[in-house]
Amino acid sequence: MIYTARAENNNGFFRDILNLYVPEGTSVADLTWGRGKFWEGIDRSKYNLIRLDKHTSCDVRADFRAVPLADETQDTVVFDPPYVTRMGFKRRSKENPNGSNQKSAFGLDESGPRNERELDALYAAGTAEARRILKRGGILILKTMDTERWRHVELAHLPGFKLIDLLVVITKGKPPGKPYAQKRARKNHSYFMVFRKLRTAGARATVSHHRRPSL
Ligand SMILES: C[S@@+](CC[C@H](N)C(=O)[O-])C[C@H]1O[C@@H](n2cnc3c(N)ncnc32)[C@H](O)[C@@H]1O
Repeated sequence: MIYTARAENNNGFFRDILNLYVPEGTSVADLTWGRGKFWEGIDRSKYNLIRLDKHTSCDVRADFRAVPLADETQDTVVFDPPYVTRMGFKRRSKENPNGSNQKSAFGLDESGPRNERELDALYAAGTAEARRILKRGGILILKTMDTERWRHVELAHLPGFKLIDLLVVITKGKPPGKPYAQKRARKNHSYFMVFRKLRTAGARATVSHHRRPSL
């Protein structure tokens, strides 16, 4: 039985999602291949997989904001973009042994998002490209994490998609960092969100501006 939450590595969840939603022999475009961690322990030959990333070694070096694949050609798209700003993630060093050693994985290089607005733009452009290349009824597997924003709540209303599953990845062990004066609960989970492409693109969620009655 596949449950919605547990302490497991990403690839365990990813395998479950493939088993539930991605039939063997279908086309899958992974727009953020990275180091292929999601696919560890999975027989990739069972899928018609194309691996894309802007920075790492894969099949096609491409920016997920302009994916070089034709409209409505993919059954499934995998999207795991940087989820923190380049200011928000510390490089690994002697002083910070829990930092990242992946220069580009989290958008740490000079092209990485500088602020939440740029991060939003990455999500918007990448998910729009995912929708463009997906066939009707296709599946988007998106990995994300809440930061100072409730990003999974915002993404739940992704235009042109219906959220059909939400899996909670509980971080194994204690999250890194020294003790500090705590004000809020420390987040030790992330999400796999599974969407189905809808026929209509839908309107982007905007703040509704009610007209003020004239005085
Ligand atoms: C969180 S990592 C993905 C890790 C991957 N899912 C794995 O299992 O190894 C984010 C990836 O997004 C890539 N990336 C960042 N900005 C990008 C862009 N504009 N276009 C394409 N890839 C980008 C990075 O190179 C990095 O590999």
